[in-house]
Amino acid sequence: MSNDPLLQPYRLKHLTLKNRIMITSHEPAYPEDGMPKDRYRAYHVERAKAGVALTMTAGSASVARDSPPVFNNILAWKDEVVGYMKQMVDECHDHGAAVMIQLTHLGRRTRWDKADWLPVVAPSHEREASHRAFPKRIEDWDITRIIEDYADAAERMQAAGVDGIELEAYGHLLEQFWSPLTNDLDAPYGGSLENRLRFTMEVLQAIRDRCGEKFIVGVRYTGDQDMAGGMGKDEGLQVSHMLKNSGLVDFLNIVKGHIDTDPGLTDLIPIQGMRNAPHLDFAGEIRAATNFPTFHAAKIPDVATARHAIASGKLDMVGMTRAHMADPHLVRKIIEGREDDIRPCVGANYCLDRIYQGGMALCLHNPATGREMEVPQTITPADTKKRVTIVGAGPAGMEAARVAAERGHTVNVFEAADQPGGQIRLTALQERRREMTSIIAWRFDQCTKRGVQFHFNTFADLDTVLETKPDEVIVATGGLPHTEVLEAGNELVCSAWDILSGDVKPSTNVLVFDDAGDHAGLQAADVISETGAKVEIVTPDRSFAPEVMAMNLVPYMRNLQKRDTTFTVTWRLIAVAKEGNQLRATLGSDYGGVTRERIVDQVVVNHGTRPLDDIYFDLKPLSSNLGEVDYDALSTGAPQTVMRNSEGTFRLFRIGDAVSARNTHAAIYDALRIGKDL
Ligand SMILES: Cc1cc2nc3c(=O)[nH]c(=O)nc-3n(C[C@H](O)[C@H](O)[C@H](O)COP(=O)(O)O)c2cc1C
Ligand code: SF4
Repeated sequence: MSNDPLLQPYRLKHLTLKNRIMITSHEPAYPEDGMPKDRYRAYHVERAKAGVALTMTAGSASVARDSPPVFNNILAWKDEVVGYMKQMVDECHDHGAAVMIQLTHLGRRTRWDKADWLPVVAPSHEREASHRAFPKRIEDWDITRIIEDYADAAERMQAAGVDGIELEAYGHLLEQFWSPLTNDLDAPYGGSLENRLRFTMEVLQAIRDRCGEKFIVGVRYTGDQDMAGGMGKDEGLQVSHMLKNSGLVDFLNIVKGHIDTDPGLTDLIPIQGMRNAPHLDFAGEIRAATNFPTFHAAKIPDVATARHAIASGKLDMVGMTRAHMADPHLVRKIIEGREDDIRPCVGANYCLDRIYQGGMALCLHNPATGREMEVPQTITPADTKKRVTIVGAGPAGMEAARVAAERGHTVNVFEAADQPGGQIRLTALQERRREMTSIIAWRFDQCTKRGVQFHFNTFADLDTVLETKPDEVIVATGGLPHTEVLEAGNELVCSAWDILSGDVKPSTNVLVFDDAGDHAGLQAADVISETGAKVEIVTPDRSFAPEVMAMNLVPYMRNLQKRDTTFTVTWRLIAVAKEGNQLRATLGSDYGGVTRERIVDQVVVNHGTRPLDDIYFDLKPLSSNLGEVDYDALSTGAPQTVMRNSEGTFRLFRIGDAVSARNTHAAIYDALRIGKDL
């Protein structure tokens, strides 16, 4: 048996967990009609198969009607949930993984204009900044009703065969009772800490009464709200002891901080550029003080840190949640001694940011996650070995090369630059976004192990491609910034890429016109303002950088607000002209009838890219499919079969930004969908 601390079993009450790695609760927003159906089940089963010891399903599964989901969570208050949960639990059990579920009442952390239009409820009228709803102050009959709701939901889950449940306290109704900031009730539910915990204890007791002593019940809570007037570390420790001493709880799952604002949420769940494992020591202190089963997750993306967390005795179970979204087979790779093959989570937080915008959680660089039904997590070797030629070694080209190599084909990749990476290389030049390089580095390593031939510093033309005698050609040449969007003065501006690459040095008084709204514009503003320059970001949108999303915006704002930066929304740059040795920028508005002028030293335009597609159009007439893609097949995961030209000697596919300006996920998804059947 292995002596890896991560692979040692762990006994929690009667339950033996086969190793120390768990997936903490996270709602990927995959439910259909509020139920965990096929997509949901496939997602968890894939990870169970690969050896994760415990998967805490759902995230914030709702126990009551007046806790309507904020991001398509499971409706645990409905009886029909039992059948769906049972199927998922049974299948995960078949693969030796334990399954629990997180239950909650969101309290004020939701909205009244959802589902049944019921008022949101909390122990005070204080609203939460993120969800904006002014709550009703909770009444006695609400308390009675919600305690019953918790017990009912727990009983449903027990009927579904789960190994246990966890109550989500932090930021939700339970903690709203705990924190002086959100509880202005009188006794018996307000006032002393004991009173503020009374509701939680009554909920736990009701669950015990219904589900019995044996049923495993834990609480996920913050041991330190880390905000003025909130529950601090000392009170947090008292809460830890009170939960343990209640005899009603079997494990503690620790987080640190608060989630009522985007910056708070981002400190609690850190993203790219933030420190790894920032709250691990804190969780370890609680374990040491309570000597009670302790779980924890917060940006522990790599196996070495996870191993340290267990070996040092800071945790009993280590959560690697986003790490499992990036690589569902993480545990299997540890067991097989293939840690180098683990696809790294780069903290891009595309997964989490998407759910807050109403989408489903998708991993920026593993497009099979959440799509296990349509796109495989493991590439099947091809029956017929082919010659595959790829032009471009950005994210799309590198994924195409990796997948083609895993199919067993002979792969040639041509890249004009002296190294792979494309746009990601520019992004990762900034220290804060350096983790992005792993998207390319992991693929380069996988390709190298499988003998892919890379030809750098090679601008591939028609002959270069034909000389490889390809069966399949993939054009992944990306795009170049498109800045010609002005009525006059296009020649006077530079692109966000010019700034990021360092080709153009920032001036001292700069206008950044960003109507793409993605990372490039804000990142350029960040780089420019870091030099001490004055920066004005102008966008015609109602909010700036809409594509960057909530948690990704936080590090930008933390930099930009400290510096000399202005944000101007609903204005559009229409022209630039010379004014002495400066520039006169004219702003107009889509609402009409107004203009404004600015005198600046430099104008930067971020308006996406235009495809670099010459090679595609040169190759197109010689191909058998004339470049055509069957969208039905592409969308349903079926192989491409288009044949338009019997003279054609190869099939031709164009992917990523070489088609149109999109994002890294889209580029890699294109490559995987096409590549898996080549
Ligand atoms: C898509 C997504 C949804 C999440 N939803 C929840 C949730 O509903 N409840 C919860 O306690 N944590 C939730 N989390 C937080 C995770 O449980 C975990 O604490 C966080 O991702 C940090 O761990 P990691 O760095 O290992 O990913 C969510 C995380 C993700 C990525
Ligand atoms: S989107 Fe980013 S943070 Fe989320 S799992 Fe993928 S790599 Fe990790």
